[in-house]
Amino acid sequence: MIIIKSPAEIEIMRAAGRVVGQVLEAVSQAVRPGVSTASLDRQAEEMARSLGAVPAFKGYRGYPYSLCCSLNEQVVHGFPGPGPLKEGDILSMDFGVILDGFYGDAATTVAVGAISPEASGLLKATEASLMAGIEKAQPGNHLGDISSAVQKVAEGAGFSVVRQFVGHGIGRGLHEEPQVPNFGLPGRGVKLKPGMVLAIEPMINAGGFEVRILQDGWTAVTVDGKLSAHFEHTVAVTADGPRILSLP
Ligand code: MF3
Ligand code: CO
Repeated sequence: MIIIKSPAEIEIMRAAGRVVGQVLEAVSQAVRPGVSTASLDRQAEEMARSLGAVPAFKGYRGYPYSLCCSLNEQVVHGFPGPGPLKEGDILSMDFGVILDGFYGDAATTVAVGAISPEASGLLKATEASLMAGIEKAQPGNHLGDISSAVQKVAEGAGFSVVRQFVGHGIGRGLHEEPQVPNFGLPGRGVKLKPGMVLAIEPMINAGGFEVRILQDGWTAVTVDGKLSAHFEHTVAVTADGPRILSLP
């Protein structure tokens, strides 16, 4: 069942999403060669708490950290660690909070210093695919309109769409119905209504779409070892169109 949020609940979710957006903005600005992802994890957790929110991922199904840090060929759910970031790396950071009983969830991928043209193209295309999907989050459209818009932009740029992980409804739960795949056909799936809130989160690979999970039980990596990028926003479907809740 898809849970419709009231206008008042959407304002609470905007507050939760704002914290997520502000934290991701701050940790993104801290990314440079020499910095450890463990320090970014600490910064994210402290900042969220100082803004009155609780980091949502630590302890969620046993995930051990507040900030997911997925480096280069890591797709999602990577672990922060003490090693220094290197010039040319790309780093995906995924963060969520709970505020007043509601979740916010967003992700971004950033460059560490100067990166290759291919890496930069992957970042741009992944973010553009997210924005194309968000644009379709309109009442009367179907879920498949979002999915196919994301897929078209990503594949049109020569990249591939991860199948094994998808976006999701979000609210009092981190993962609510419906699932939001980043691939699909326009006009298919449920009809979108005001009050639906979706976490749209394309994970796009430079090579093939296949992923596997490392021995740690969490870190998803590309099977071919090529780069992967991840952008995510929490988005409300409103009568006036899509409203991004996870901006700073
Ligand atoms: N954005 C990711 C998701 O929706 C983050 C979850 S990390 C986890 O699945 F640790 F909470 F699983
Ligand atoms: Co998510």
